[in-house]
Amino acid sequence: MTGIATSEAAPAKINLALHVTGQRADGYHLLDSIVAFAGEGDLLRFSPADEDAFGLSGRFGPQLSAEAAGQDGNLVLKARDLLRATLATHGQPAPPVAIELEKNLPVASGIGGGSADAAATLRGLMRFWGATLNADTLGPIALKLGADVPMCFEGRPLRARGIGEQIDVLRSMPRFHLVLGNPLKGISTPDIFRRLATKDNAPIGEPPTSGSTEDWIAFLAAQRNDLEGPARALLPEIGALADMLRSTGARLVRMSGSGATCFGVYENRKTAASAQAELCRMRPDWYFAATETNGTH
Ligand code: C5P
Repeated sequence: MTGIATSEAAPAKINLALHVTGQRADGYHLLDSIVAFAGEGDLLRFSPADEDAFGLSGRFGPQLSAEAAGQDGNLVLKARDLLRATLATHGQPAPPVAIELEKNLPVASGIGGGSADAAATLRGLMRFWGATLNADTLGPIALKLGADVPMCFEGRPLRARGIGEQIDVLRSMPRFHLVLGNPLKGISTPDIFRRLATKDNAPIGEPPTSGSTEDWIAFLAAQRNDLEGPARALLPEIGALADMLRSTGARLVRMSGSGATCFGVYENRKTAASAQAELCRMRPDWYFAATETNGTH
């Protein structure tokens, strides 16, 4: 057995704004999105083993194991296999590894989930295996795993364009205090894209360079998530959830990705924490997490 046990965080991906700006000939949609990553997330653990192994834990682990039994399999295992195959072509070793996924985020919920896990698997296994691959090799591997995997691999505040693979790191985004909410009903991303009425909306405006929270909230409030309309039509709980976040004092409320997770932006850590407690009292059967994004300062 080789390698030293290590762990890697898979932070939730929050689309603070998401505009659909067009559609490619192959059906994928062109996006323009402002993205930040939260303290809340899944956790991947890697340890030496005689043969490959995979285990699930955490609040949503049981749900994922049922879904992974489907034909799609698990994105963590796809990431492991793809990285190992690439390392083989570079003459680098990739010995057996036991992977444990602590699934803390709701499944199929618009905050990365599978993409964040795949990206964390690439980062963690690179370190576990002591691998050296440059960004030109890793980028296509990430994209092959899913349109959101390259941005999750980056893990910093960014603007993503193309189908998500054209990434510009944002250097002035402040830290946001959020509550994430989810009615615990999964949404299929292709389903939501199919229901989009307008596929050529205006791109996002220029993000502020000031780093001021006020400027950023005003900027974000003037943008949208174009997937929110179709998601609300499919799942009315999203509208109720957004109203609940607003009723607890959120300054900005929006859905992330293709849903159903919505976030509220609060004044500070304390107001976010008390909003989360209140929301849990209102709907103990839903998911609520108070968290912070990793701003650039
Ligand atoms: O690439 P990923 O597996 O995350 O995407 C899931 C599905 O969502 C795609 O097969 C496609 O139907 C839709 N999608 C899209 N445009 C994007 C990203 C995803 O139409 N930019």
